[in-house]
Amino acid sequence: MNPYLLLVAAHVVSVLFCAGPMLAVALAPELPSSPALRRLALVSSIGLLVLLLTGVGAVAMTGAAFVHAWWLRLSVLLMIFAGALTGRLRSVAKRSGSARTMRSLAWMISAALILAVCLMEVKPF
Ligand code: HEM
Repeated sequence: MNPYLLLVAAHVVSVLFCAGPMLAVALAPELPSSPALRRLALVSSIGLLVLLLTGVGAVAMTGAAFVHAWWLRLSVLLMIFAGALTGRLRSVAKRSGSARTMRSLAWMISAALILAVCLMEVKPF
């Protein structure tokens, strides 16, 4: 079995763990309770961390092939953006902040992840 492909598979699976909880928060007709929200945001943060580790691992395995690609650089920025917003969502959930703010944050995180998936798949530049 090809270890690079296994790593990329783990990378893609971790996208599910980042995006799944955020889409649930964004789409649920009623916002989950504060502990449930914090759990969802924590799972998403852990998913982002695994996404970063597996991404760095994949770059390390491909040598210079992707390092200078703009789709990769932009995805790193999108990941930092998603990470910062997830941290903010966690703190808003801790203070039981407004549902509107939490939904907007969840939508922005989901949009950043969707854009990064498109960049990673299409590799436009
Ligand atoms: C929001 C962040 C990210 C998302 C949603 C994401 C998503 C994806 C997806 C869906 C693929 C599979 C593409 C395919 O079918 O081959 C992929 C591949 C890959 N990702 Fe990411 N990724 C993210 C961040 C990163 C970061 C931060 C790095 C590196 C530091 C990285 C490095 C890679 C590499 C090297 C590949 C393999 C490309 C290939 O072999 O064609 N990714 N990513």
